[in-house]
Amino acid sequence: MMNYKICLLPGDGIGPEVIASAKDVLTALPIQWDFIECGIGFGEYQRSDSPLPDSTIRQIRHADATLFGAVTTPPNIPNYFSPVVRMRQSLELFSNLRPCRSIPHPSSRSGIDLIIVRENTEGLYSGIERLEDDGNRAITERVITRKGSERIIRKAFDTARQTGRKSVHVVHKANVLRQTCGLFRAIAFEIAKEYPEITTHEMLVDTCAMELVRAPEQFEVIVTTNLFGDILSDEACMFVGGLGVAASANIGADAAVFEPVHGSAPPLVGTSKANPIATYLAAAMLLDYINEKESAERLRNAVEACIANKESTPDLDGNLTTSQVTERVIEKL
Ligand code: NAI
Ligand code: MG
Repeated sequence: MMNYKICLLPGDGIGPEVIASAKDVLTALPIQWDFIECGIGFGEYQRSDSPLPDSTIRQIRHADATLFGAVTTPPNIPNYFSPVVRMRQSLELFSNLRPCRSIPHPSSRSGIDLIIVRENTEGLYSGIERLEDDGNRAITERVITRKGSERIIRKAFDTARQTGRKSVHVVHKANVLRQTCGLFRAIAFEIAKEYPEITTHEMLVDTCAMELVRAPEQFEVIVTTNLFGDILSDEACMFVGGLGVAASANIGADAAVFEPVHGSAPPLVGTSKANPIATYLAAAMLLDYINEKESAERLRNAVEACIANKESTPDLDGNLTTSQVTERVIEKL
C-alpha cells in the first residue's frame, strides 16, 4: 500500500487545534500517511517575515493533497499580503467547491445536498482596480476568459458526473452583464453538450439567491463566477449547520487544498470549544479527491452519527470539548 503525502497547514488561532484533531482522525483510518506541517499566516509572518513562504508553496505542490486550518488577518501591516489569496493564485487553484448537505440537527433544513462550484481566480476578484478623477471614480475590471470559464464549467459537470448528480445550474447575470456573463453563459452551454446525461439549467444570480432560500432542495450543482459564488456559498451553508460544519476545497490542475470555511476564531483559542467537524468534512473531501471514497463515506457517516447524538461542541448544542469530539468520531469510524 502506498503512503499518501499530505501537507498540513495549521495556521493561526483555532487552526492548529482543528488540524491536530483532523490529523488524529485521518490517522485512525486504514490508510498510510506521511504528514508534513508547513507554516502559513500571521504567526508564520512573525517567525519568517512572510505569511506564505516559498517552501510552503513547494510542499503543497509536491503533496498529494493539503489540509489547511485558518489564518488571522492582522490589522494594517504595510507589506502584508493575504496568504489565502496568494496561495490560490500561485498554485492556480481555479475551482472552489462548497458542498452543502443537510445534517441531523434542528438548525439544519432537510433534503439539501448541493455543491456550489465557484470560479476562484478571475471575475471581479481579478485584482485590476484603479482610481480616476482625483479619486472620485473607482473602477474594478471584471475579467472573464474562455480558458477560465471552460475549466470551471468542466469541473462542475465532472463533479455532477462523479457524484451521481443529474443537473447543473449555470448562474449568471447575462441580461445586464452582457459581455462577461454572456461569455460565461455561452461557454457553459457549449460544454453542456459534452454531458448529455446531465440536465443544464440557467438562472439569474438574484433569482438564485431567492430560490436558495425558498427551495434549496431543487439544486444539485451550481456553477458560477467568483463574486457570485462567494456570496451564494456563504448564504447556502447557513441552512445546513453553519460555520462549525462548512467545508470547502480549492482544486487546481496539480494541487488541491481542503479547508474549513471558518476563520481563526481568536476568542475560542484555548477554550476547547472549537468545532473540528468542518475540518473533518474538509478531510472527507480530501479523501474523495485521492480516491479513498469508502473512507470518505465512513468519516461522513461517523460525523453525522455524532451530530445526531449531540456528541458535539456547544455551537451544535453539545457539551463536548474538541478532543472529546475527536474521540467519539474515531470510535464510530
Ligand atoms: P470566524 O470564522 O473566525 O468566526 C466567526 C464566528 O464563528 C465566531 O463567533 C466564531 O466563534 C465562530 N466559529 C468559527 N469557527 C468555529 C468553530 N470551528 N467552532 C465553533 N465556532 C466557530 O470569523 P471572524 O471572527 O470574522 O474572523 C476571525 C479571523 O479569521 C480574522 O482574522 C479573519 O480575517 C480570519 N478569517 C480567516 C479565514 C481563513 O483562514 N480562510 C476565513 C475567514 C476569516
Ligand atoms: Mg467568503
